[in-house]
Amino acid sequence: MIKKVFLSVCTLFLFFQIQAQILPLIPLPNSIQKAEGTFSINENTIIFAEKKSAEAAYLKQYIFENYGLKLKVTHKTKAAINIITFLNANGKDCENNREEYQLNVSKNTINIYALNNAGIFYGIQTLIQLLPIEKSTVLKIPCLQINDAPRYQWRGMHLDCSRHFFTKNEVKKYIDYLAMYKLNVFHWHLVDDQGWRIEIKKYPFLTKIGSKRKATLIGKPTFDSLGNPSANDKYDSTLYEGFYTQNDIKEIVAYAKNRHITVLPEIEMPGHSLAALAAYPQYACNAGPFETYSRWGVSDDVYCTGNDEAFVFLENILKEVMELFPSKYIHIGGDECVKTKWKSCAKCQKRKADEHLKNEEELQSYFITRIEKYVNANGRQIIGWDEILEGGLAPNAALMSWRGINGGIAAAKQNHFVVMSPGRPCYFDHYQSRDKAAEPMAIGGFNPLDSVYNYNPTPDSLNENEQKFIMGAQANVWTEYITNFSQVEYMALPRMSALSEVLWTNMEYKNFPDFQERLYIHKGILDRMKVNYAKHFLPIK
Ligand code: ACM
Ligand code: ZN
Repeated sequence: MIKKVFLSVCTLFLFFQIQAQILPLIPLPNSIQKAEGTFSINENTIIFAEKKSAEAAYLKQYIFENYGLKLKVTHKTKAAINIITFLNANGKDCENNREEYQLNVSKNTINIYALNNAGIFYGIQTLIQLLPIEKSTVLKIPCLQINDAPRYQWRGMHLDCSRHFFTKNEVKKYIDYLAMYKLNVFHWHLVDDQGWRIEIKKYPFLTKIGSKRKATLIGKPTFDSLGNPSANDKYDSTLYEGFYTQNDIKEIVAYAKNRHITVLPEIEMPGHSLAALAAYPQYACNAGPFETYSRWGVSDDVYCTGNDEAFVFLENILKEVMELFPSKYIHIGGDECVKTKWKSCAKCQKRKADEHLKNEEELQSYFITRIEKYVNANGRQIIGWDEILEGGLAPNAALMSWRGINGGIAAAKQNHFVVMSPGRPCYFDHYQSRDKAAEPMAIGGFNPLDSVYNYNPTPDSLNENEQKFIMGAQANVWTEYITNFSQVEYMALPRMSALSEVLWTNMEYKNFPDFQERLYIHKGILDRMKVNYAKHFLPIK
């Protein structure tokens, strides 16, 4: 009897010990059942996939790079122990938005079951986060079963490569961070007033001229009493340049695809287009010449809505963009278009009259709808910033809500798909600490880690049907004041990890103190990756 009681006390103790063990998983899976014991990955562990599998190759490579263990991948084996097995239930890499997976770790085997390769990949990401941080030849993983699936289908991160340029390898690193957090859209901001960064074969001056700026404003722009750029502003007169060749882009798109990430290209129009107009001034309202912007802010020289040739120019650009990017959506910008030049342009005013448009907002809507027709005719959809609501939303457009959430709510009520990305808390170019003096200069704002963590992209004011139009959310990293990749990391991480839980984990399981505890262990992975993440979440010494 005493022995029995002793044994059950021991079992209970073990149970609590297992339950208490913190698993550094981010985003938190939706169901975790812990069990007793561990599986040990060693040099004899086999990875089994039914057929050639990019996911198997990914895991093999990850374990080799981080631990030096060379695992064998096989498609045929009778082994029943020391094996990691992938089972893709329908054998396909279908785009059916079914990204769930089950990860089973027992003493002898690790099994990942999923409906497609995306699910297998997410199971692998969870498995990777369970590996010990320290380098070793025996990697012990706790026995458990995880059943998991994402809350949203659009789990995005944006990076502005126009204001500052980041190399192909830096972009790949960024994509690796997305992959680790099971994010699946990389929104690549490729063009703006301050630089055109994508090679377009038909229009070589876009990169020959538009990818360069003669000078760069130091600090924030200031203005004189008439609202003109202040003569006191200081500039760095070093030539700033950089662009991605079409081969670079193909390589990055393939790299992302291997990680189940869609690259969403953004080609800004009708505003934010000065770099393009510096190269091809004939598509503006005024004669030009123009220079790629050296200042931060928005130029009032934009594409002319009255010039049919400007549409041909943009369609030819979009044709090459669609050939490079297989994404269903093409981002056409649409934000912050200054309309003063349209008001005094005879061609724009003629267009307005011919099309019976009431105002310049409707002229913008005409412009976006005309571009949408072209994109739709090529089998794709447009997505644009929430200004595209003004003057009427193009019939099939999806909307990215950045000036708060009202644009997203309005679009969802009109049965248009929406990605939420409100400035608060989704702009990661904003400060993350109140101690601004101790931070690198940011654009402003205050979006600390907990504000990101506690964000709910689905507004209560939408009814159940309207809520279905919220595809998900994303955070944006604008780079006016982010001059190098190390600073990108600082602004993006760990806020990206908090965002991942917003987008993946069911709300009922989320808990900020619990997230902080996991992050505290998980940071070991970031350290191993040599990421320059922000350290505000660490206990103050
Ligand atoms: C934006 O921040 N202008 C979309
Ligand atoms: Zn015009």
